Amino acid sequence: MARALHDPQRGYYARRVQDIGARGDFSNSATLSPLLGQAIASWIKEEAREMPEIRHIIEIGAGNGILMETVKKSLGWWQRRRFEWHIVDTSASLRTQQKQRLGKSVRWHDDVRQGLDACDGKAFIYHNELLDAFPVTLVQWHAGAWHEVFVEFTEGAVRESLQPFTPDADFSAIQQTPKHQQQRYELHISVRDWLRSWAPSSQQGAMLTVDYGDTFPTLYHRRPHGTLRAYLLHQRLEGPAIYQNIGRQDITADINFTDYRAWTQSLGWVETSYGAQADFITSRLGKSQSQIMDSNGAGGAFKIVTHRKLRK
Ligand SMILES: C[S@@+](CC[C@H](N)C(=O)[O-])C[C@H]1O[C@@H](n2cnc3c(N)ncnc32)[C@H](O)[C@@H]1O
Repeated sequence: MARALHDPQRGYYARRVQDIGARGDFSNSATLSPLLGQAIASWIKEEAREMPEIRHIIEIGAGNGILMETVKKSLGWWQRRRFEWHIVDTSASLRTQQKQRLGKSVRWHDDVRQGLDACDGKAFIYHNELLDAFPVTLVQWHAGAWHEVFVEFTEGAVRESLQPFTPDADFSAIQQTPKHQQQRYELHISVRDWLRSWAPSSQQGAMLTVDYGDTFPTLYHRRPHGTLRAYLLHQRLEGPAIYQNIGRQDITADINFTDYRAWTQSLGWVETSYGAQADFITSRLGKSQSQIMDSNGAGGAFKIVTHRKLRK
């Protein structure tokens, strides 16, 4: 999954960048409507009142740059000028698009640690649909034990196999026996390790996370096959089709917010809110639920969690 999405030459994010934001049912809120960007701007204003010494804003995984453009516009001239703007993105071709849209007013970084070092560890950070682009470890319950699903590509054929997997206390889903005999779950080991890799560089600030997913066990209610799926030209693909069109299709899985919230907390982030994106926008912008659902059909599936990092 890491190579299929992120290989610098043949990965989806290197090649199929035009498609980002067009995931069938999960049409991307940032590209469809300015409401999310306006609500993030309102959150930044509030955090800036609490922590006026913070002068840097970092977006991680900025896609084509539309979200940052909207956030900047919505902040207004005075607030916008107050901050230095940074983007962390691993895709060279998306960085090119971001530069075309946002010009010289932004600084780019290869990873979050580098971005935070440029801010003396003090920043307001936000990211939308970043975590769902991280590779997952797929596990399956089989013969009374957890197994990891491996994939083998031989002479055009794709074959899955199961290998024993030792459960780890960091993942809520695998702590108990599932209802379904062949239940599959996705574990975002990659997200946990990524958070740990840059957490020591973060001294003070706030973070806003937007992604689709839910808490456990609601996330997997009536989903014995898990949430792993692919999107090719707006079409949702599941099962063996996930392994076809490698590099030409997006592959993604929902976020288990029970795990994500536990990891962020253990790394010193204090949670300030968690809920549906539609509720976040309603409470920030005073729009009705129906206005939001009309312009952002995925408002219920997306969640927003906000955190503060207080000075040590
Ligand atoms: C699904 S797109 C979302 C784009 C944008 N946030 C939006 O909402 O339109 C994921 C973005 O995250 C970037 N990305 C993926 N993994 C990353 C990582 N580990 N660090 C930084 N950026 C990453 C991709 O290059 C891409 O810009």
